[in-house]
Amino acid sequence: VIAQTKITLNSDLAKTQINKHIYGHFAEHLGRCIYGGIYVGEGNTKIPNTAGVRNDVIQALKDLKIPNLRWPGGCFADTYQWKDGIGPKDKRPKMVNVWWGGVTEDNSFGTHDFLDLCERIGAEPYLAGNVGSGTVKDLVDWVSYVNHPGGSPMAELRKQNGREKPWNVQLWGVGNEAWGCGGNMTAEYYANIYRQYATFMADWNNTGKLYRIASGASDGDYQWTETLMKNIPHNMLSGVALHHYSVISWTDKGPSVNFNEQEYFKIMDEAWKMEEFVTRHSTIMDKYDPEKKVALIVDEWGGWYSVEPGTNPGFLYQQNTMRDAMIAGLTLNIFNNHADRVRGANLAQIVNVLQSVILTNEEKMLLTPTYHVMKMYNVHQDALLVPISIESPSYEFQGKKLTAVSASASKNAAGAMTISLTNIDYSKPHEITINLRGDEFSKVSGQILASAKINDFNSFEQPNKITVKEFAGAKLDKGVLKLTIPAYSVITLTLKK
Ligand code: AHR
Repeated sequence: VIAQTKITLNSDLAKTQINKHIYGHFAEHLGRCIYGGIYVGEGNTKIPNTAGVRNDVIQALKDLKIPNLRWPGGCFADTYQWKDGIGPKDKRPKMVNVWWGGVTEDNSFGTHDFLDLCERIGAEPYLAGNVGSGTVKDLVDWVSYVNHPGGSPMAELRKQNGREKPWNVQLWGVGNEAWGCGGNMTAEYYANIYRQYATFMADWNNTGKLYRIASGASDGDYQWTETLMKNIPHNMLSGVALHHYSVISWTDKGPSVNFNEQEYFKIMDEAWKMEEFVTRHSTIMDKYDPEKKVALIVDEWGGWYSVEPGTNPGFLYQQNTMRDAMIAGLTLNIFNNHADRVRGANLAQIVNVLQSVILTNEEKMLLTPTYHVMKMYNVHQDALLVPISIESPSYEFQGKKLTAVSASASKNAAGAMTISLTNIDYSKPHEITINLRGDEFSKVSGQILASAKINDFNSFEQPNKITVKEFAGAKLDKGVLKLTIPAYSVITLTLKK
């Protein structure tokens, strides 16, 4: 018997905008994310590039329409001396990347390289400031260097380094994981430090207001969020972060490809926990900020497994299968449905690290199943969330249950509606009936991401094994939509008048 899922979409009740920044990404100086993955340098390489950044990666990121890119960390951010990454490259001081493999960082990819890359791919930069080991002055100088129009020492230094106009960076992280690699601080201590840093991070008149984001809780650390919301004046707090990774256990993370059903189920369970974390952190925020002025920014999320055999354990390089596509589809549905409070998120990380959308091997590049899901969902960026109710049977394993089908929907300015569906069931297809309330449509088209096996992936030998295909299996009749979604697949449907 095919499982039955019932969905009702209330198109007439759509009022909340899905902030495009939910679809953000994250690039850290970690393993082969920046060096090799994004940046190959201008000389001495056969890989086609623009100012040292791979052309194939630039094109893939443009196609993905990424709204923002967070940099330079992560844990690395709280060790980063931005002044070492400007000026002539051969004169830049080196440092040791203490968090990630102890490798030498030559600072050849710095502020100009990153901000110019963001301009090229049309993404807003999200700079993570060094609070853990830096000073207030360092961070204030960084803001001034990238944002001040002219006449200040930092603006003049920027001009000397070849950039006349400021970049006007709005998104700023005030430290990262302050409870851990960012300084092992208590929430009370960090709240005070935040107030100090935020006071001096100036808003220049011509750039609008800086969007300052506090380093947030890990998983279910509600006390952290409560302390920040209580102790930081909200006029200096645009967002509070949250980090949650889908990991089996920190001591034994399991393989990224040859996993069994138990490992699959555990990762899906972890992915579903995002719903609980976002709901409960939001409830705490509601208590101190009922008007929802402060955003919840999930600026690190994704699947985390053991590294690929034979690769540096400090580089966090892992393959990306249909299981990762499930994490992505499910998590994006959760974020969309919480659009009133979740107004930003960053998948960790963009190239060659953790749940990447792109993998590279020397001159070769491939797009992962996660890339395809992020692309299928990008139509929701800045569209109006359509409230949804859903009854879906469980995916069961050894007596434990998880909701099998998740969904979210939005309508755009032209009146078209997009519904995104993810079925995490390990073996069963689900028949879905969607009742379209409050609007009438006459045409439906669709796309599907599916593959024969749950642990299928795109390899450098077969980079297009998993790609998006047309889905013509949805039937629309008198305001009711019917389709069958295969096990472990993602479908998006577009409805037009
Ligand atoms: O994304 C990898 C690491 O995970 C980040 O550097 C850190 O913020 C988190 O612990």
